[in-house]
Amino acid sequence: MPKWLNDAVFYEIYPQTFCDSNGDGIGDIGGIRSKLDYVKSLGCNAIWLNPVYDSPFMDAGYDVRDYYKVAERYGTNEDLKALFEEAHERGIRILLDLVPGHTSDQNKWFLESKKHERNEYSGRYIWTDSVWEAPPQYRLLCGISERDGNYLVNFFSSQPALNYGFNNISHPAWQKAPSDPDCQATVEALKSIMRFWLDMGCDGFRVDMADSLVKNEDGDKPETCKIWRSIREMLDKDYPEAALVSEWCNPRVAIGAGFHCDFYLDHDNNGYRILFREKDQSTGECNAVFAKNSKGDITKFLDEYLEDLKDTKEKGYISFITCNHDTPRMTRLFTPLEAKIAYSFIFLMPGVPFLYYGDEIGMSFMEGLPSKEGGFSRTGTRTPMQWDSSVNCGFSNAPAEKLYLPVDTSDSAVTVEKAEKDPDSILNTLRKVITIRHENPSLRSDGDFEVIYAVKEKYPFIFKRGDFIIAVNPTDIVQKAPFAFDGNTVFEIGNHSKEGNYLIMAPQTLLLLKI
Ligand code: NOJ
Repeated sequence: MPKWLNDAVFYEIYPQTFCDSNGDGIGDIGGIRSKLDYVKSLGCNAIWLNPVYDSPFMDAGYDVRDYYKVAERYGTNEDLKALFEEAHERGIRILLDLVPGHTSDQNKWFLESKKHERNEYSGRYIWTDSVWEAPPQYRLLCGISERDGNYLVNFFSSQPALNYGFNNISHPAWQKAPSDPDCQATVEALKSIMRFWLDMGCDGFRVDMADSLVKNEDGDKPETCKIWRSIREMLDKDYPEAALVSEWCNPRVAIGAGFHCDFYLDHDNNGYRILFREKDQSTGECNAVFAKNSKGDITKFLDEYLEDLKDTKEKGYISFITCNHDTPRMTRLFTPLEAKIAYSFIFLMPGVPFLYYGDEIGMSFMEGLPSKEGGFSRTGTRTPMQWDSSVNCGFSNAPAEKLYLPVDTSDSAVTVEKAEKDPDSILNTLRKVITIRHENPSLRSDGDFEVIYAVKEKYPFIFKRGDFIIAVNPTDIVQKAPFAFDGNTVFEIGNHSKEGNYLIMAPQTLLLLKI
């Protein structure tokens, strides 16, 4: 386990819209390099960079055309290498996004695999034996190549699934076991890609759809896990400082498979949704634990979280995110104060936290945008970073109509420049919380977590981390709970008081007490 993860705080950068250094309306590596000091000023010491590989961008770069080449619009491989170096000089590590489950249908491997003559890549993807073979349980694209067969897609139609084999084989004529040489060749190809970027200086990978490799497996996905374990072995041996973070949303299984961290995501019944997104089924209103007028149930979150925490202890970390490029920004549902409390909580939890660009200033979800590069309902979360009051909020000096996505230039739009000046802004609040986290080992990734007060549909929620107590009342009414601790307030949103053996928390407050 790379030691640095214990004190890592990540910043996720969507390269298209972070900072445009050459005025073409699309963010680029030069722009990211120019903002490294800003990232550092947040207390973030690691970056997850969404895909920057060559791509036709049918899915914002998650459709890789060439795994070994930076997309021209972002710069060159040399630029990326320089980014690694400049980040390292500042103590910042960089994870690339690894897309192992599928490629673009424009990838050279796929173009070869479509050909009638057998070649090195014929078995790199999952093809049925004949074009007339199209079992309905599979998402197949039919009749569009010279090769006689149909191919399986992993996500959008432009993303053919790479062939890692099948666990339960239902159609022996074309489904291979994971041990088949073709499937093994896919694993080797993946390892080579990883080595290439690690050798260039990247610090590891966030792995896209990490659970999607071997097909026809349910539950704990033993064959997919086997592949990741072999990749982890490679890392432990040759790149022991490299980190592997999965998009799996099942920490027990993912960490068992060799990942160092796994995300809680906006998935059904997952902790992230319960805390920050849950809707009341009958009224459709937000009923998340952190919504100010909800009856959110912290015990529902804890039932899952405590089990996951126990199962992954000393093996890996659960990662909370403020948001990511796939889900509406929190401010779509929450006021800035609700978001500030929710984000502060995230950075006071165990595990490795991730801050999505723009959340630190409370950027909003832009409604009503047409889909961009396969974004669809996710597009409003991917708009340009709002830096300052200059043209296009400082994102780019291209004419507004050339921007990748429109930038929010309304008078009310938040910017880094404005947020810097307000001591109570989300930005300045998070800087404080993240600084405290770095300064105190018990608040870092591997610090303990003990529930002190958590009652169904009641607040505050109180927990202990080493010599710290954290109490949070996200609701808009006063809440009280039995409380037997004394200490110094290290950080607070709003205020609290004590009455006898009770802690009284004013509406919408968070307290960090050193005991
Ligand atoms: C998950 C990524 O986060 C998402 O943006 C992408 O569209 C799919 N995987 C497919 O790669």
